[in-house]
Amino acid sequence: MLLVLVRAWAILAASGQETPISLEAAKELGREKSSLLKATKEAARASGSIPKANVAFFQKSVGPILKKNCLACHGPEKSKGRLRIDQLNPDLVTGPDVERWREVFNALSKSEMPPKDEPDYALADADRGRIVDWLSGELNTASLVRRNSGQHSSFRRLTNYEYNYALQDLLMRMRTAGKVKFDIKTGKWTKA
Ligand code: HEC
Repeated sequence: MLLVLVRAWAILAASGQETPISLEAAKELGREKSSLLKATKEAARASGSIPKANVAFFQKSVGPILKKNCLACHGPEKSKGRLRIDQLNPDLVTGPDVERWREVFNALSKSEMPPKDEPDYALADADRGRIVDWLSGELNTASLVRRNSGQHSSFRRLTNYEYNYALQDLLMRMRTAGKVKFDIKTGKWTKA
């Protein structure tokens, strides 16, 4: 884009001076002008229409899979990892659960869930793909909409696992560097 602008500008500048512009340059200028125009129009159209959440697909295809493969552990009976998948709002664009959905997305795309040692809840590849596809689309839409409306577009938050790991990693490094020490009695880290 910048390159195109610079080139168009160079040609315009050149034509502003008396130098006659070649047919090739004129053609190129025309092409570039029109592609710029097109890009501008596209951007305007994109910002003019607000994309919507695809809740219909959730209800038809995703919800039933989650129900079958996840709710035994993340539903009304048990809520492992303090996660109630049945209570997540399937509208990622206007709903409040985007961060939780992102955790679900991560767990599924890394094949961490359902747990491998639970054959009763094993998730077929096609089903996993269906949820991951839907979620990646919805996460994108949600991020786009929030970015356009001036809200923070990144919902990226560390999952519990990542958080613990990052913290542990940090503490280990500090300990190795002699900056902190672990007090067995209080169970706390203190400055060395
Ligand atoms: C047999 C029980 C079981 C089933 C079925 C199950 N999970 Fe889990 N899930 C767990 C347990 C236990 C944890 C807590 C793991 C931990 O905190 O170390 C967990 C944690 C999670 C987390 C949180 C991970 C994090 O990073 O904090 C997500 C997300 C998740 N499960 C998604 C799912 C999804 C989606 C399904 C269905 C496809 C599913 N789980 C099916 C037992 C289950």
